[in-house]
Amino acid sequence: MAKTTNGFTGRGHDMLAPFTAAWMIDMGPLVIEKAEGSYVYDINGKKYLDSLSGLWCSTLGGNEPRLIEAANKQLNKLPFYHSFWNRTTKPSLDLAKELLDMFTANKMAKVFFTNSGSEANDTQVKLVWYYNNAIGRPNKKKFISRANAYHGSTYMSAGLSGLPSLHLKFDLPPEFILHTDCPHYWNYHLPGETEEEYSTRLANNLENLILKEGPETVAAFIAEPIMGGAGVILPPATYFEKVQAILKKYDILFIADEVICGFGRLGTMFGCDKYNIKPDLVSIAKALSCGYVPIGAVLVSTEISKVISSQSNQLGVFCHGFTYSGHPVACAVALEALKIYKEKNITEVVNKIAPKFQEGLKAFIDSPIIGEIRGTGLMLSTEFVDNKSPNDPFPPEWAVGPYFGTQCEKYGMLVSFSGDHINMAPPFTLSLEELDEMISIYGKALKDTEKRVEELKSQKK
Ligand SMILES: Cc1ncc(COP(=O)(O)O)c(C=O)c1O
Repeated sequence: MAKTTNGFTGRGHDMLAPFTAAWMIDMGPLVIEKAEGSYVYDINGKKYLDSLSGLWCSTLGGNEPRLIEAANKQLNKLPFYHSFWNRTTKPSLDLAKELLDMFTANKMAKVFFTNSGSEANDTQVKLVWYYNNAIGRPNKKKFISRANAYHGSTYMSAGLSGLPSLHLKFDLPPEFILHTDCPHYWNYHLPGETEEEYSTRLANNLENLILKEGPETVAAFIAEPIMGGAGVILPPATYFEKVQAILKKYDILFIADEVICGFGRLGTMFGCDKYNIKPDLVSIAKALSCGYVPIGAVLVSTEISKVISSQSNQLGVFCHGFTYSGHPVACAVALEALKIYKEKNITEVVNKIAPKFQEGLKAFIDSPIIGEIRGTGLMLSTEFVDNKSPNDPFPPEWAVGPYFGTQCEKYGMLVSFSGDHINMAPPFTLSLEELDEMISIYGKALKDTEKRVEELKSQKK
């Protein structure tokens, strides 16, 4: 057993694991073997409350029998067929229709299936370029994203992301991707600045960036309604209203990344519904299939899909696709998930438990090591800082967030941690008893973390 630099003990492993720090590899992986409702079990039989629904996915819990049955039925009938050359399968057609009916923030006309959120955002870049080439705007090719955004891990989607660690040493972002401000009011507002004033300043900065680059070169803006991976960053009041007005002024498309927010997590079916966003293109994944099988998709507006169709007619083919686009098993599971969301009236289910989830956890705000607890619906982040100030982060080597995360794990709950913020986004099927357990474990882990910070502080003196 080796001691890691953070004082955790464990052993190494051989995987090139995604998003894993060296000190975590030293600890060895937590190997999950089984899921049951809101819980998962490791290979030693230890039970954990899964407070992040896996990776913001398992909205209906870890073993919903109807989804498993849907996969089995489809596997027995037609385990695979593709969607190339105008051939396709019934589940993919049915799912496309269902999604177009379901998304009402703006009229969407077509669905392009992918296998993940990253592929969906990757596809967005190509669709936008194809569209602008078709309508005679070959120079309108740049994308604007936001600092700290997470849009995925492929070349394009990592470039669209705004987290330095996704760019560092990967030669990213490419030149055509620009980043504007992260809209985190608590972290970045000026003294005395209201949320509305802050939004105005950010919209002005966005406009200045567009003018500096030349509006004729800027094709699209991409944003998550709430920034999930960055630590559940809610848009400040009037932010999307002001941003959309600027985009409209310069004829710039809006791509809504609904990969985390979609399908009820915020208490509305989509994040666009909550913030009155009227996107031209939408990316979805994760809760689309409850995470049980890989699937993502792009929803395309009527205007863009018309142009793409007529351009493809001229070129002979729309040459973009994946072997597993519209995979029948993934589509069958997603169709069943959407059916369950409808039957259960899933936004009502979320809105019933969300206030207790938010209030129960936000009650810990007085802790001396917490700066902000933010969230809405079934999505919440806790930011650990000293002196309650975003300007006083703890030394990174203290690993305060990871320490809290490992204490939760010790007490039987999994949270995600990235730097000194931890995220929680439980399944929509969370019971009140499970919520009580979640709050209780959070409280115990917080006490331990406060104690550790005190010890580290006294060692520093
Ligand atoms: C907002 C957002 N977009 C895109 C992605 C990438 O999705 P995937 O991991 O399925 O490629 C994620 C993943 O967490 C995400 O949170």
